[in-house]
Amino acid sequence: MIAHLFHALVGDDETAIGVDIVGSSEAIMLAGLTLKRKWQARRKAHGKPYDKPNIVTGANVQVCWEKYARYFEVELKKVKLKKGYYIMDPVEAVDMVDENTICVAAILGSTLTGEFVDVKLLNELLAEKNNETGRDTPIHVDAAGGGFIAPFFS
Ligand SMILES: Cc1ncc(COP(=O)(O)O)c(C=O)c1O
Repeated sequence: MIAHLFHALVGDDETAIGVDIVGSSEAIMLAGLTLKRKWQARRKAHGKPYDKPNIVTGANVQVCWEKYARYFEVELKKVKLKKGYYIMDPVEAVDMVDENTICVAAILGSTLTGEFVDVKLLNELLAEKNNETGRDTPIHVDAAGGGFIAPFFS
């Protein structure tokens, strides 16, 4: 039901994969752990170090991201905010992605201003970088407040 609300590309004979959670913090803990483990498995398979995972996100992240980073031992690489622009800039975010980046976290409905990151642009830029580097860095959308209204925009 949720996949359809968000217009996910799920075929008639396919099933969306996911899990119900009670809040955005729980979503971040579970998704963050999954993303870290998948990244570690890929790194191990290629004989590369897997002890310095990071997440690229905006400096406007909700405090639960700090908690995730501390307890799950992942560095938060924050894109600085600018005067008059209080969400993550997708161009700067993609520039900060490196081989240790387990995901880029985009917020739909910033806790501070309610603004949405341009996730479509972020996806295009990241796909381009992934193509160039041969990596597969994913996006996590923190659709806290925005998750309640985004499905009804289009
Ligand atoms: C953008 C964002 N992410 C995460 C959270 C944490 O959500 P919850 O309190 O539902 O765990 C909030 C809560 O304000 C939020 O605004």
